[in-house]
This record gives sequence, structure tokens and C-alpha cells, in this order.
Amino acid sequence: MCGIVGYNGELDAKEILLKGLEKLEYRGYDSAGIAVRNEEGVTVFKEKGRIADLRGSVDLNVSADIGIGHTRWATHGVPNKLNAHPHQSTSGRFTLVHNGVIENYHLLQKAYLKGIQMQSDTDTEVIVQLVDLFAKEGLSTVEAFRKTLSLLHGSYALALLDQEDEDTIYVAKNKSPLLVGVGAGFNVVASDAMAMLQVTDQFIELRDKEVVLVHKDNVEITTLDGRPVERKPFKAELDASDIEKGTYPHYMLKEMDEQPGVVRKIVQEYSNSLGELTIDDNILEAIKEADRIYIIAAGTSYHAGLVGKQYFEKLARIPVEVHISSEFGYNMPLLSEKPLFIFITQSGETADSRQVLVKVKELNYPALTITNVPGSTLSREADYTLLLHAGPEIAVASTKAYVAQVAVLAIAAYVTGKSLGKGEDFDLKHELGIVANGIQTIVDSKNELEQVAEDYLKIARNAFFIGRNLDFCVSVEGALKLKEISYIQAEGFAGGELKHGTIALIEEGTPVFALATQEQVALNIRGNVKEVVARGANACIISMEGLNEEGDRLVIPKVHPLLTPLVSVVPLQLISYYAALHRRCDVDKPRNLAKSVTVE
Ligand code: F6R
Repeated sequence: MCGIVGYNGELDAKEILLKGLEKLEYRGYDSAGIAVRNEEGVTVFKEKGRIADLRGSVDLNVSADIGIGHTRWATHGVPNKLNAHPHQSTSGRFTLVHNGVIENYHLLQKAYLKGIQMQSDTDTEVIVQLVDLFAKEGLSTVEAFRKTLSLLHGSYALALLDQEDEDTIYVAKNKSPLLVGVGAGFNVVASDAMAMLQVTDQFIELRDKEVVLVHKDNVEITTLDGRPVERKPFKAELDASDIEKGTYPHYMLKEMDEQPGVVRKIVQEYSNSLGELTIDDNILEAIKEADRIYIIAAGTSYHAGLVGKQYFEKLARIPVEVHISSEFGYNMPLLSEKPLFIFITQSGETADSRQVLVKVKELNYPALTITNVPGSTLSREADYTLLLHAGPEIAVASTKAYVAQVAVLAIAAYVTGKSLGKGEDFDLKHELGIVANGIQTIVDSKNELEQVAEDYLKIARNAFFIGRNLDFCVSVEGALKLKEISYIQAEGFAGGELKHGTIALIEEGTPVFALATQEQVALNIRGNVKEVVARGANACIISMEGLNEEGDRLVIPKVHPLLTPLVSVVPLQLISYYAALHRRCDVDKPRNLAKSVTVE
């Protein structure tokens, strides 16, 4: 989703901003722009499309050492050059980039900006016009900025340039992520530390509604009402090589290949000095005290939550409900007496999930966030955090984070079950080692999976994924992977449910991927496959060693029956990847999608 960068220092701001925006490309965007200031004033360059298009339009002769930049994922107004950021006030004095959504922008426009001819369809322009208006009324820039912020309802991360001020980027955030990076003789602004790792690894976390002045030599943080705030920088524990593709053609392929290592790393991170799996004592107590767990998540993370429900119910005997975050917040079910909320979120920034967390905290219920990003908003605002340790996930389609989420959920449920003296008795640590090897076998069979994609999906208009029990949870994730990167319409279904309506869509050649890794329902799913084959479907059965039959197209290595989602999802990811490649889709940056969905 939208990304912000800013630079105030001694080097050429244009190049640092453009490089920073390239690092934010993975978040998803449809237009981009930068604004730089020098003695001649502020110059804005913006373009619809990719950063490469923006680069082409930047005048290399304009040199400046202060500037801001933005990648836009359209919310208010179509993706075009006019609506791309930065936006300027009519006088040209102020220039602004903004992430988020201003809910009352229409009201503000009516109340304050009646005579002003807007140049774009965005909510952002209202903000920059307000700052200009209040400055014209006699306020200093910082006062005008504060007054504007006090009127805004909604989410924002903002970086503002004043043509009359050569040494300040005015910065603020509410609900949307934003960091200030510090260096010797320069300071920077970024939605994500990755964007500015090129110049610093020292970052200051900003809190909602603070007002921050980023000068070349220092950073001033104050509360909205002007009280000074002291905050030390932290070191971003990111390795620049983690965010490079290396020799891989796509981040998604690299990240799928990393999955065996991610499972091993998680086992290591969650082992104590005796080599036993463990989680933090406080988290363990919080889980044990709960009479019901509410898992809240979106998209792929929601699919991981479906698996997590089975783990907590089977291994710890705690009832679990799994909810889509965008639904839960505005239609809360009756809650149990002692609920524990678990937020699953790779990015830790998803606005839909965050709005639920805010409500949960207002109700004083305990909350645990399972995330890949330490220090992310959902991690900071929850009582407890379990980290995924998956390393940065850059491809928009989540792969290794899903596997990490399922593995961490398994460990949390297992450790809780052991502590409560409930659940199944098996050696999870040993079994996760077998899982890592199983994933390795699959990622090493890329040729076979490319062939499956070719055989089943080359000319497909739609596809179905079916499974029962845990295989159903993976089916919905497989379908999501396929549709988001290849644009083939795909649905995941409980195997037995297809015949209650959707089977009407099966026709000659319709691809149906059927998972058969669960012994107690293996025969039932094979029955469901027969039903669709009888209607012309091109069925691809993916079974597990020990449950395989002649004619199965793929057989995954045998793993513990509860852990099959960690392995069976991998061929579905790779098949989706190759199907997208065959269709020449932009695998890492699928159309219309954003990595970090910071608007509701
Ligand atoms: C799909 C995908 C999305 C995310 C969803 C939630 O591949 O990545 O469905 O899972 O947007 O994001 P997080 O996990 O960051 O809260």
C-alpha cells in the first residue's frame, strides 16, 4: 500500500528518494512521485505506473538536498498523474505526501476550503490546502500543521515541505506506519525501514499524533499539543541481503525456497536451553487462562488462523473462533467470559486487524499478536507478541509467512497443551524437522510443478481447490494464491460442499485440485473427486505418502497428520507461481494488490 520516503541531508535527494521508493514497490502501488526543494523552489515529478516510469520523467539537472517521495495505491480518485502524490497547495508553497484515508475530508473542504479550486480527487489535497490556509491566516508552518492535524479524522502518515523553509520536513502519523531514520548530517523519513537501509539502520519509532520536525542535523518530536518528547533510535535488525532478490528472478520464488529454513529457524527460536519447545511464560499463562480464543486476521493470515483453530482445539483443548478482521470489528459476536484475542498478521500493520485490536483494548481484553515485523503497530499495541522469524517477505503473495504462522501456532498450541497436560502426545520438534525436509523435497521438484501448472492451468478460466478438514484450510489458501498472482478465478471448497451448488460450474476440462492428506477423510475426498471427474473436470490429486493411490498427480512426503498444511501448501504456491509466469503476470507485484494494507 502507499509508501512514503523523505530525505534531508547533503547528498542528491532525488536518487535517495527514488531508490527508497524502489524498496517500497513491494507494498503495491499504481503511481509514484517525488518533490525536491532547492533555492529555486519545490519541483514535483510524478507519473502513473512504475518507479521506472517516474525515473524517466525526473529532470536530472534539478539538484536538491531535501525532498519527499510517495508510492500511491489509489483510494480516493483513480490512479492517474493528477491524483498521484506529492500534492501542492494552490499557492505552491506547501507540498505533501500522505498515506491513509481522511474520513472527514469532504466536511473539511466544505467548512474551510469553499473558494479553493481543487486540482485532484484526493482526500490528501484537502490537508495541504488547509495548512496553506492556516499559514495565510498568520500561523507559523508548525502551528498551521498542528491545527490541520487536530481537524483530521482517519488514518495518515504525512510528510510536508514548505517552500519557505530549507531545512525541515514536517512529519506526523495516525494509525499508518512511519519512521524517522537518523544519520550523521542527514535524517530521513520512511514508511518502512527497508526503504532507507541504503543510508542508515538507526530509526526512531513515531507514535500516533506526534508532530515531528526532521532537520538535517536533528529531529524534534512533540505531542500534538506541543510537549517535547525524547525517544532514542533503535537499530533495524535487517540484513540488506534479506531484501535483495540475489540470483532469483522473483522474490516469491526466493521466499518459497526459504521455507525449509524458516521452519528450522522457528524451531530454534522457540527452543529453550534444554532444547525443548517453549513460549514466553506470560504468553503461556495468558493462553491457559482463556476460556475461548478469538483469532482475528485477514487474507492468508486468516487461512493460517483456520489451521491454528484446529491446533488449539486438538492440542490444548481450548475452543477457538476464527474471524475475518474487517467483519469482526463492526459486528462483534457474543464473547466468552475470559477471551484471549490472537491477531495474526505478517506485516503487523493491517488496518482491518488494527481496528479490532483498538476495540479489544478498549474492552480491556488481553491480546497477542503473531507477526513477522517486530515493533509493528499491532505488535506494539497488543499485550504480547510472538514473532514469525521468517525474514522480510517482499513478494505481495504471502508464502513463507503463512508457513511461519502455521508453525508458530502449532508450537504455541503444543506448548500450551503440554503445560495443561492435555492434547496429543508427540514430539513436535522432531516432527517439524521432518516437515522442513518435506518442504525441501517439494521446492526441489520445481520442474514437475511447472509441468502441473502447464497441464492444468495453461488455458484455464477458473479452477477449484477442494479438501476436507485441514486440507480444506489449505484449499482456500491455494485458491487465493492462484487468483491473486495469475488472475485465474479460483475457489477453495470443503470437498463435500461442492455438490451443494457449485458443482454446476464444473464443465469439460475445469481444473480441480484435490488434497488428500487426512486419513479419516481420504476416501470421502476421493469420492468428491469422482463426482467432479464424472462431470468432465480435469482433477489433480495431491496426496501424501501412505495415503497415495495410482493416478495421483503429486505425492507429498509423509509428515505428522496435524502438520500437513505446512507441506501441502507448498506445491499449491509453486503451481500458482508457474501459472502466473505462463500468463506473463507480474508475480511479485500483482495488479490492484498491496503488501501492507493500511486502509480499512
Ligand atoms: C495474500 C496476502 C494477503 C495478506 C492480508 C493480511 O497473499 O498476503 O491476503 O495475508 O492482506 O496481511 P497481514 O498478514 O500483513 O495482516
